[in-house]
Amino acid sequence: MQIKNICCIGAGYVGGPTMAVIALKCPDIKITIVDVNPTKIKAWNGPLSELPIYEPGLSDVIKETRGRNLFFSDDIAGSIEKAEMIFMAVNTPTKTEGEGAGMAADLSYVEACARDIAKYSKSNKIVIEKSTLPVRTAEKIKEILEKESTDIHFEILSNPEFLAEGTAIEDLFKSDRVLIGGDDTASGQKAIKSLVNIYANWIPKEKILTTNIWSSELAKLASNAFLAQRVSSINSLSALCEKTGANVDELSKAIGMDHRIGSKFLKASVGFGGSCFQKDILNLVYLCKFYGLNEVADYWHQVVKINDYQKERFAQKVIDYFDGNLAGKRIGFLGWAFKANTSDTRESASIKVSEILYKHGASLSIYDPKVKYETIVNDIENLWETKGSFKDKRINIVDKLISTSQCDVFVILTEWEEFEQVDIADTKVIFDGRNINQNQNKFSIGK
Ligand code: NAD
Ligand code: UGA
Repeated sequence: MQIKNICCIGAGYVGGPTMAVIALKCPDIKITIVDVNPTKIKAWNGPLSELPIYEPGLSDVIKETRGRNLFFSDDIAGSIEKAEMIFMAVNTPTKTEGEGAGMAADLSYVEACARDIAKYSKSNKIVIEKSTLPVRTAEKIKEILEKESTDIHFEILSNPEFLAEGTAIEDLFKSDRVLIGGDDTASGQKAIKSLVNIYANWIPKEKILTTNIWSSELAKLASNAFLAQRVSSINSLSALCEKTGANVDELSKAIGMDHRIGSKFLKASVGFGGSCFQKDILNLVYLCKFYGLNEVADYWHQVVKINDYQKERFAQKVIDYFDGNLAGKRIGFLGWAFKANTSDTRESASIKVSEILYKHGASLSIYDPKVKYETIVNDIENLWETKGSFKDKRINIVDKLISTSQCDVFVILTEWEEFEQVDIADTKVIFDGRNINQNQNKFSIGK
């Protein structure tokens, strides 16, 4: 079946870039991205310099496709009705209440999508899980769709997304693999084929992997768990390096040169951040426990525990440097995003480290080249345990690196390129989350 009309529910970090790239590569397909958040839709339709997310190369793709075959709309009902294929790219955060709180994925947004699809569909649809979901979620979605709408055939596929923020467009252009899971029925195979045909417009066929639906759902969680596990493995060894005089960068290089291990994702850091690693591993841990696999659950849980330990260990170094007394000390906090080339701060190590230092009495001058002032305020107000801290005069958010030059020490937590090119005019102590082995280097931000 030749798809002509796609609807994507969720105009976030995944929905926006993935649909923009499909629109670019498939000019004959009309794609409408819808969202419950009208402000977001307005921003996607607004100036290219103010798109809701920052992603290198994204504005060029939007410039070419928007209004041609890519549309952003708040007409959820109409867009579902017209589409032959519907992607669900809504958020799946960790549950905050009810059974599985703090561990399991909150599927309420996905379930709401399924109810909307059932309600507004008047013809058969291919429904695609783009969000990261626990294995066997397709079963639940099918149940909702069939309960609410009996005379329409819904074919469910799993097509998880592997893009990383900061390189989303590059990743979508040259994916390592595209994974598509579906049922082994005639209609399942037909649906798989129509999705394969879309990706085949720019992804080599050998990189398009088709599997059963459960393998596809689980492969996404497992991929993130493997990546995060590598970071926690090297971070755990960074602690041993500091005790023994070994250098963690030299260690990573030596380990990574073994082609069976490989060199990627072995950079010691202050701990991984981002919206997915922690939530996906916790979700995996929950699933293992659900199936009674407690040893397997404990194994994966340790990846998250080491990550928490690393953030606390890093903050403790700064505290120890001041012999526990940070009152009257101003810390230049360089980097708030969870990694370079993104404005996303979800689960950023900066949030936890800054809170610990603030609680010990430090004043903070925070600078990030891309994160908006309001985002930093929002993170401090909503994610720190002590509410109302931002109103305190001890926190200062600045829009230029130079404005932090009067600080007593620096903490660098995001690998922004501009932090590489500092002008050595005066020496200051830094605690470098990018180079955890060499804290307390001398460094300066210029005059
Ligand atoms: P996001 O929060 O940036 O975007 C989700 C969007 O869905 C929001 O704009 C929200 O308003 C909208 N939404 C929620 N419920 C809705 C509903 N019922 N109807 C219409 N719109 C609704 O999330 P994201 O980062 O794009 O992640 C989406 C999914 O993709 C998650 O499952 C995540 O794990 C997965 N994922 C994310 C990344 C990433 O880099 N961020 C990469 C791969 C996979
Ligand atoms: C990650 C995966 O890389 C994507 O494949 C996946 O699609 C995505 O999660 C998701 O499911 O959301 P992302 O979180 O955007 O992408 O960014 P990564 O590049 O994986 O970095 C995650 C964190 O690990 C960052 O805080 C980064 O600084 C840290 N990291 C990464 C290290 O500390 N050391 C490394 O060697 C690599």
